[in-house]
Amino acid sequence: MQNKLTKTEHYSPAEDTIFFANYIEREKGNNALDIGTGSGYLANVLVPNFNLVVATDISYNSIKIAHLVIDNCVCCNAADALCIDFDLVICNMPYLPSDEIVDATVDGLHEGLEVPMRIIKAAKDVLKKNGKMIFLTSSLANYNKLLELTESLGFQTKIVATKKMFFEELILVEAIK
Ligand SMILES: C[S@@+](CC[C@H](N)C(=O)[O-])C[C@H]1O[C@@H](n2cnc3c(N)ncnc32)[C@H](O)[C@@H]1O
Repeated sequence: MQNKLTKTEHYSPAEDTIFFANYIEREKGNNALDIGTGSGYLANVLVPNFNLVVATDISYNSIKIAHLVIDNCVCCNAADALCIDFDLVICNMPYLPSDEIVDATVDGLHEGLEVPMRIIKAAKDVLKKNGKMIFLTSSLANYNKLLELTESLGFQTKIVATKKMFFEELILVEAIK
């Protein structure tokens, strides 16, 4: 029987990345964290407006590529290796519903909720009081439940932007701790 290995390939900036990037251009603060940084594109958008930008990814391949543009890169699950309190945490989530994680760049497990919720819980632990998380999900995931679960952690959530694509709607959420 063939072994199914989790792919840890690099996610090249796509339309969702650019949609997210346009929104976060206006964010300012002392420090920010980009979870699941991929190429480092979103983290790099934050650099001019923050004193410290940290980028994490579960994929070592991604971290090697992100490190070409971002100084502070950490290969870890979500924010598990960090003990800094951030003003802002962003994440372009792996949100596709899946039974298992075959491609870590997109697979979000049950209803596209499980991996995002792990990331949101980790983000909560490294956010300052009143800190902000901005994350991207989609109509392909059970996003209403994702918002409910995020609120149940104590966040106040708001959908701040949407973008209709051919087969899905991208949904950008702000969650205040
Ligand atoms: C949809 S891609 C987004 C990449 C990049 N931020 C962008 O917008 O182009 C999701 C990224 O999250 C990473 N990822 C998936 N699960 C993760 C986890 N548990 N912890 C950290 N990163 C994770 C993937 O390796 C991938 O780079």
